[in-house]
Amino acid sequence: MHISISFKSIISGILILLFSSRFVFASAKIPVHAKHGMVVSASTIASKVGVEILKKGGNAIDAAVATGFALAVTYPFAGNIGGGGFMVIHLKNGINTTIDFREKAPGKAYKNMFLDKNGNFEPKLSLEGATSSGVPGSVAGLIYTLKKYGTMKLKDVIQPAIELAENGFPLDKNTAESFKEYLHDFRKYPASFKKFSNNGEPYKEGEIFKQPELASTLKEIEDKGDDGFYKGKIADLLVQQIHSLGGYISKEDLQNYKPVERKPVTGTYRGYEIVSMPPPSSGGVALIEMLNILENYNFKQDDWGSSEYIHKLVEAMKFAFADRTKYLGDPDFVKMPIAELTSKKYARSIFEKITNRAIPAHEILPGKFPEFHESMETTHYSVYDGEGNAVSTTTTLNSAFGSKVVVAGAGFLLNNEMDDFSAKPGVPNQFGLMGSEANSIQPNKRMLSSMTPTIVLKDGKPYIIVGSPGGSTIITVVLQVIMNCIDFNMNIRQAIDMPRIHDQWLPDEIYYERFALSPDVKNNLIKMGYKFGHERTLGLAEGIMVDNNDGTIYGASDPRGPGSAVGY
Ligand code: DON
Repeated sequence: MHISISFKSIISGILILLFSSRFVFASAKIPVHAKHGMVVSASTIASKVGVEILKKGGNAIDAAVATGFALAVTYPFAGNIGGGGFMVIHLKNGINTTIDFREKAPGKAYKNMFLDKNGNFEPKLSLEGATSSGVPGSVAGLIYTLKKYGTMKLKDVIQPAIELAENGFPLDKNTAESFKEYLHDFRKYPASFKKFSNNGEPYKEGEIFKQPELASTLKEIEDKGDDGFYKGKIADLLVQQIHSLGGYISKEDLQNYKPVERKPVTGTYRGYEIVSMPPPSSGGVALIEMLNILENYNFKQDDWGSSEYIHKLVEAMKFAFADRTKYLGDPDFVKMPIAELTSKKYARSIFEKITNRAIPAHEILPGKFPEFHESMETTHYSVYDGEGNAVSTTTTLNSAFGSKVVVAGAGFLLNNEMDDFSAKPGVPNQFGLMGSEANSIQPNKRMLSSMTPTIVLKDGKPYIIVGSPGGSTIITVVLQVIMNCIDFNMNIRQAIDMPRIHDQWLPDEIYYERFALSPDVKNNLIKMGYKFGHERTLGLAEGIMVDNNDGTIYGASDPRGPGSAVGY
């Protein structure tokens, strides 16, 4: 009797939930939860590699580095050793730091390198082949971080990646299909075609994918550390490959590459502390600017998805992207008004300009700061170790499979990150992003990024660890996941699942996911003056939320992608 009553009450609870107008489908899903640690990445195998390191006693940094190397093997779409990225770290002693291992323009790069003789932008050169590659930073970044903040030896964290490359792993449907989709591009580069085809035929789901050349490159790194990649045999192969295709990277560029540890950009949002990536990523500055503007509103639970809510989000996005376009670039080359852009006072002045209509993009001008003298396809993984250490890393080759060029004999793909520079004022890059002098091409300069690896702290302890790929949409994806948690009390699973919108000032239109805008919301927005781009998927967030009351760690990998949250 007792059993049947409680069963009945469970069923009626479910029915109430199902028929309540407040019910959102995503709320039925419970995030993966664990007590000791969590790794969330776009590859289930790579997440498992990270968790194994935690189980062996490694900290979040050890696990992140192991996951990073594993992704270069199991997620060739974006995981890499031939690209770059950013890591935001919170240590259990309270220290926050970031590691910038962004690619750099080669020493021989020059401002107009992607313009034809008539001065027109030639995106083919910035997007594909050896000319599109910046000097890779991932290996140096991972090794630097491990040495400074990890507890394990390089061989312990790189070994799983070596084994996966050597012995292979069965291809999942997504990965096999992605190889097939790009086979046409790979065909232009013999080493790429050899790597991503099964003796000339497309790989099929379930077939074992082995990467012997990548395994030997990883072994060189295991034996020699940085020098195994930036000097000697592998560096020679890389430079040979670049030069045979008319690219610019030299041996000196490789030898001179150094990751940079930078102070995070920080802000607050409704009492939570936001720790994110400073330039050369625009992500953290734009995220904090948008949050500061939006903090001036009080959102109630029912506001989510309403035209009023979307209007406010979009206006905040537009102002932040206008500032991104004008001001942001590589801090080693340009002076930027970071304190001003991330101040509550500046956000308040933007808030005061926002009324009940869409401000046309041409009426939005980047902010003016009198005291400031102007000198002018990716993947994310989140790691928490249960001890208080958190790592939020976004890494990229830029487009899917980067430049499409695999280094012959070394088995890894090179990035096409040069397209993230502003090749010509007023001409958008592949993400439709405009840029100014601040992001012009100069030798040895880092190209501006939108990657936004972020850690949100509550009472000084990690609360949310999140990031996403998606080019310019990364910033607005991270914004919406954070707001879903803080303003709308969603768990990390719901916060990531919910449909999203995006606006980047130019083009002057809102992009939106399926189900993000109901017809009446869309009509209201049209009445306010908004225009719409096409429906599309926005981002692939990988997030962790920590309940510091009972120590439970929740993880969620974006249902839009192939990844997994793995906890223990
Ligand atoms: O650094 C950036 O902002 C871009 N290279 C990121 C590229 C990206 O997210 C591609 N994925 N969809």
